[in-house]
Amino acid sequence: MDMHVSFGGLDLKNPVMTASGTFGFGMEFAPYGDLTKLGGIVAKGLSLKPREGNPMPRITETPCGMLNAIGIQNPGVEYFITKALPYLPWKKVAVIANLYACDAAEFGELAGVLAGEEGVAALEVNVSCPNVKEGGIAFGQDPAQIAKVTEAVKKWAGNKHVMVKLSPNVTDIGVCARAAAEGGADSLSLINTLSGMAVDIRKRKPCIANVIAGLSGPAIKPVALRCVYQAVKAVDIPVVGIGGIASAEDALEFILVGAQAVQVGTANFLRPDFAFNLVDEIETLLGEIGATSLDDFRGSLQLPL
Ligand SMILES: Cc1cc2nc3c(=O)[nH]c(=O)nc-3n(C[C@H](O)[C@H](O)[C@H](O)COP(=O)(O)O)c2cc1C
Repeated sequence: MDMHVSFGGLDLKNPVMTASGTFGFGMEFAPYGDLTKLGGIVAKGLSLKPREGNPMPRITETPCGMLNAIGIQNPGVEYFITKALPYLPWKKVAVIANLYACDAAEFGELAGVLAGEEGVAALEVNVSCPNVKEGGIAFGQDPAQIAKVTEAVKKWAGNKHVMVKLSPNVTDIGVCARAAAEGGADSLSLINTLSGMAVDIRKRKPCIANVIAGLSGPAIKPVALRCVYQAVKAVDIPVVGIGGIASAEDALEFILVGAQAVQVGTANFLRPDFAFNLVDEIETLLGEIGATSLDDFRGSLQLPL
């Protein structure tokens, strides 16, 4: 079955990408599978300058998921360009850089640094991180800021595909989706983590030093599916589904509601070979359920009259 997916000039050999922050810079997962099997690799979030991230502890397990407050720890964009990108098989798999900055001007500057990098197929703009005090979710909750940041990135991104990653921590995801589209986004990806919290009754302390953290994993899948469904209806640009995907069935649920492709996050921590296997598992499952092609299946959800 033809698993190839192409949208807004971004070519993926199949609809499986790995989600930012859960797959390192890609090479960390090379021992577990063939990176070139994936449709795309979204690298961990990058900022102009290196960031230390939030204090520990910053990860805790929850029923059916995890909470994290990493705070975009990363070695900075120059490190990515000089030390990570050259070792990735970017000629054979789409490498997508995930961008984090504190304001629209800085987002634009970061996009400009990556615009000339041949090995980068697309820029994913993180306007949705709940774990940083400045920028982050504040952008993601304000449609005017989403449009402004998107415009700034588009202005400096050259001919790179710009994917805007939305937060579910909003009242109306459709409004945010439209703001990104109006700002010139080539596609949307959603969802980032849901705002959450865990406390320890014996220590009488929060489980995460940052107190509030981001919930991911199977626990968030129904929310993610609803958000993707609403975003697909709200805009004409392509949508990439993310949130709690832990099986081929999960991935196809997102495609059924109209997602072009999917990203796999927390499942990479539990099963480092998960994303690689998912490619074949989706193909097999499509055949089993009687779909003739990925394109025919996409968005074919039958709603009650
Ligand atoms: C430890 C961790 C770090 C993350 N870092 C980033 C990041 O740097 N940039 C970003 O856009 N999303 C980041 N995310 C969010 C994921 O990319 C994804 O949107 C979210 O986890 C939901 O997908 P999942 O349920 O499959 O994990 C991170 C998630 C986790 C669990």
